[in-house]
Amino acid sequence: MKGESGLPLVPQPTQAPHAKRSSLKLAGQMILVTGGLALLALSQGYAIFSPIVDIVQWKDAEAQCAQADVLVPHRNAEVYSKLSEVLGLPETRARAINWLSGAVKVPTEVYDDMDPVGVDPQWEVFGPFHDYLAEAYPLVHSNLKLTKVNTYGLVFDWIGSDSSLKPILLAAHQDVVPVETRTVKDWTHPPFSGHYDGEKIWGRGSNDDKSGLIGIMSVVEMLLEQGFKPTRTVVLAFGFDEEASGLQGAGELNNYLVDVWGENSFALLVDEGGGYVEEYGTTFATPSVAEKGYLDLRVEVKMPGGHSSVPPAHTSIGVLSSLLVQYEKEPFDVALSREDTLYKTWQCYGEHGRDVSSALRTLIKASMKSKAALTALEKFLFQNKFYKSMIQTTQAITMINGGVKSNALPEEAYGIVNHRISTQSSTHATMMYDKQRLTALAESFNLTYTAFGKHISSTDAPSAGSLTLSAAFTEPLEPAPVTPTDLESHPWRMLSGTIKAAFNAAHQLEGSNNIIVAPGMGTGNTDTRFYWSLTPHIFRYAHQNGGKDVSTGGGLDRGVHTVNEAIVVDYWMEQLRFFMTLILNADESEL
Ligand SMILES: *[C@@H]1O[C@H](CO)[C@@H](O)[C@H](O)[C@H]1NC(C)=O
Repeated sequence: MKGESGLPLVPQPTQAPHAKRSSLKLAGQMILVTGGLALLALSQGYAIFSPIVDIVQWKDAEAQCAQADVLVPHRNAEVYSKLSEVLGLPETRARAINWLSGAVKVPTEVYDDMDPVGVDPQWEVFGPFHDYLAEAYPLVHSNLKLTKVNTYGLVFDWIGSDSSLKPILLAAHQDVVPVETRTVKDWTHPPFSGHYDGEKIWGRGSNDDKSGLIGIMSVVEMLLEQGFKPTRTVVLAFGFDEEASGLQGAGELNNYLVDVWGENSFALLVDEGGGYVEEYGTTFATPSVAEKGYLDLRVEVKMPGGHSSVPPAHTSIGVLSSLLVQYEKEPFDVALSREDTLYKTWQCYGEHGRDVSSALRTLIKASMKSKAALTALEKFLFQNKFYKSMIQTTQAITMINGGVKSNALPEEAYGIVNHRISTQSSTHATMMYDKQRLTALAESFNLTYTAFGKHISSTDAPSAGSLTLSAAFTEPLEPAPVTPTDLESHPWRMLSGTIKAAFNAAHQLEGSNNIIVAPGMGTGNTDTRFYWSLTPHIFRYAHQNGGKDVSTGGGLDRGVHTVNEAIVVDYWMEQLRFFMTLILNADESEL
């Protein structure tokens, strides 16, 4: 996951609702029915609001968040049951630990601003990693066709017997975020030790994302050991700079895959992403089906230099400051929409969360049709800044630069505003609002204004300097197309059934709704940003137990991108079950 240091993927409200379970329940009983209309008071001690909700109307509203049945391989039943048994053996666990621990021991750090492959020697760290994989997975290397794309990108083709079936694509990344030298002393076990302490494997990449890559490779190796031969082709694609720009790895892999297979040629794609967590007393898996867009805006002011003893009223730094203040004064509008993935997640909480109070449940249901209820739900969710940030086009002024000497007028100053673009918006809308918010100020400072290559100010206006807006560092990224999540969509149905089967098998449960599968959304971007044309069915999902309460760090915040990254082996073994079930189910399902 790029850039988002340990941010939970589906965070809870700042105060976890189930910690306030009793007061929520109480609130649920406080619904007053007045002439067919209910005054709904949803109190968590820190927020009270009272939208008007027709209780009678909404109590029996149509069920939301329909669930697929457990899906267990049928044609592949024999290999499924055999490998399920093998995965439960202590010696398999020991073997898996060795595989992942060995992979962590090969450092594969990437840095921002590296020169291309072939120019920058820092990429060469992937050579030893490839050697490691070749040694660890002999059957994968002798049975699958390996293509190295841009030297270090790995594509394995496991050709199925029926070429009329669209292949599935399993993705992961080989690179890890760098370990900062000054933080090495803070690690309980050295960052590339791959130390196993009886419960966890420690080290950079143990979670993000060697758990995914090694999980996939291990499962394929074991399926080969069982003599499994796929009907549907399986393609593995492993990028190597997901934590930097992704351009050298996934960017090139995408070009290659489009060349070989064509656009819209894959039945589905699974890459790293969210796991499952307990919310409101129910376990929810939230495969990420959307991603926000991205734009780094550069705001640059140029003005004449000179001696600071005879200064103008405003220097370029002063002007830039005013412009940035203006941005913070006028943030992007934000409103919860029924199209938002977060909204769909909450429909699932409302429908399936065991401990959701009847007041909240009614509110969530009512919001499907009632504007007032939607507004009230928004108010409730936006108390948590994580939820608000997921919905909003965010802005954060993250860099500023200007001036070279205390007694010289700065000729140039610039700031960087980092945007994460709402899935309901676009790069264009974001740039237009960025432009528009500075128009009046640019005029009052007499700046020649150019925004994204277009002249804004009239040419005959007085000019005291220039203001230029442009995209910095990388190309702006549109919000990702949203993956279909209705049950008529076969990939979603198959994935859901697979998650349920893997969960049941790992926890020795029976029945379809031990885990609820809900559309989810992460906070960062993954390699999948390059893969949109390969399939509309992109899922960012790691079948890992995120624990009870994401907001207290029980979740995916296991040192990802910071010190003491580690993975609980039991959780990871369940992820192996998921990959195995996924490959076998996809092999025999209509997708
Ligand atoms: C902008 O130009 C006008 C006209 O030349 C001038 O009166 C005004 O003071 C200038 N404003 C600034 C902030 O320099």
